[in-house]
Amino acid sequence: MTRDEIKALVRTVPDFPAKGILFRDVTTLIRHGDGFAACIAHLARMAEAAGAEVIAGMEARGFIFGAAVAAHMRLGFVPVRKPGKLPVRTVGIDYALEYGRDRLEIDPGAIDKGARVVIVDDLIATGGTALAATELLRGAGARVDHALFVIDLPDLHGAERLRGAGVSVEALMDFPGH
Ligand code: PRP
Ligand code: MG
Repeated sequence: MTRDEIKALVRTVPDFPAKGILFRDVTTLIRHGDGFAACIAHLARMAEAAGAEVIAGMEARGFIFGAAVAAHMRLGFVPVRKPGKLPVRTVGIDYALEYGRDRLEIDPGAIDKGARVVIVDDLIATGGTALAATELLRGAGARVDHALFVIDLPDLHGAERLRGAGVSVEALMDFPGH
């Protein structure tokens, strides 16, 4: 399945979560068996080319794609979680989201020093989430040079911000103008 065919499976919902926003909804992609599998195969090829040793994904939608990519590649998956969910001492970081603020946490013991960690998430908008995850994972000793997304919203310049932090960014598709 081509990237354009996968892109056609993403549903666009107007005025969510606020008036004037076009929400790019991946639930219609992941409920399509062939589409989801093709999406994961594309991401796994990109992660392999990036030399991934570990996949990390951000709660919640990053878990769907990141964990599937990790299993496809027979690599481990490290969850980057919303606050208060991990049962151990965590390191965390507060960050600005497109609509509000949030916090991400990891188990610092989850990363082997110098491990090449590739970040996977469903979408990059402002890049705040991916930058926070990068900082957290690097702080725990990871080498983070690559981040992969299903969708890039280029007008929000997240990919540029991430590249400015030394992370190369690839996405399966983009939606210019949102
Ligand atoms: C969404 C999306 C990305 C993030 C992108 O997550 O899944 O993780 O926003 O935005 P950014 O590039 O501006 O940071 P969100 O936390 O809204 O929801 P989720 O828990 O469903 O993943
Ligand atoms: Mg998310």
